[in-house]
Amino acid sequence: MVLIRILKSWELPEREVTSETAFLNRRRFLKSAIAAGIGATVLPILGCQNQSQTKSELIKNTVPLPDIPRNPNFAQVDRPVTKQIFASRYNNFYEFGGTKSIWRNAQSLPTENWKVEIGGLVKNPRTYDIDEIQKKFPLEERIYRFRCVEAWSMVVPWIGFPMKRLIEDVEPTSAAKFVRFTSFYDPQITTGPGFHLGSLPWPYVEGLRIEEMANDQAFFATGIYGRTLPKQHGAPIRMVIPWKYGFKGAKSIVKIEFLDRQPATFWNTLVPKEYGFEANVNPTKPHPRWSQATERVVGDGPAMSWERKPTLPYNGYGEYVAQLYQT
Ligand code: MTE
Repeated sequence: MVLIRILKSWELPEREVTSETAFLNRRRFLKSAIAAGIGATVLPILGCQNQSQTKSELIKNTVPLPDIPRNPNFAQVDRPVTKQIFASRYNNFYEFGGTKSIWRNAQSLPTENWKVEIGGLVKNPRTYDIDEIQKKFPLEERIYRFRCVEAWSMVVPWIGFPMKRLIEDVEPTSAAKFVRFTSFYDPQITTGPGFHLGSLPWPYVEGLRIEEMANDQAFFATGIYGRTLPKQHGAPIRMVIPWKYGFKGAKSIVKIEFLDRQPATFWNTLVPKEYGFEANVNPTKPHPRWSQATERVVGDGPAMSWERKPTLPYNGYGEYVAQLYQT
């Protein structure tokens, strides 16, 4: 059965808020899917799925991480933690498709024997096994607000470790000023027509200034909701930079390089006028095509019915990070 529902404009903030290129690619995919009569649910219709059926599927390929202490300094936010049933089936992971409903496609991400290569301007270049990372860096839980540039938000209980622990381990040289993070990419593994979004500048790459990476808020997540990361969230290790828009948090990291100059990044290369390198959450600086003053809190029902909240400067983390940006 062909199951493609085109949401009306009032139901789909995603259309207002996604880069034109990505949106056009998405439109192309939709057209070809309709032409081919492919049976697929391609748009994020939250609240229309049977939640009890999908819950166990959403955490497929994950294992519990028992007894991880919650860091009391990162335990309080001004709103409830988003239910996993919403957070884990409303994702951006363009390697697996141009919609929010990629969680099934993302299951083809091969996470066995995962390695992360660290190089560039460091005294101790090395390659870590993911198991080694989990053992070497003490894991903790942190509850963070998460604000996407598309003006939706969540509250997420991540498990992982501060990025500064990795900096201490590899010892960057004094020449290192920036850091480049590269996501896994293999065009053979994305799944089917339209999903390659082939004209995009793969692999997905993000970057930080080294002082930003060293800030206590900057986090590598290896888990979420008490378990290892589901693939759709960027298993087995991803970045979480809570004071920046969500696109700065590259998923499924395979390489980290310390550099003496600012690296080119995925969205900044694609649409430089819309997605800056710094990308700090800033309610007073609108995106060229929409306001950033408020955000919709991901929840049940159609997206446009989600609660709207004011957006906070630095996503509420200004007291910890604003000094990084004083000139
Ligand atoms: N990382 C990769 N490799 N590919 C992506 O498409 N999307 C980014 C970011 N990291 C993306 C990525 C964007 S736009 C957002 S908002 C967050 O991942 C979404 O994270 P989540 O799906 O875990 O909520």
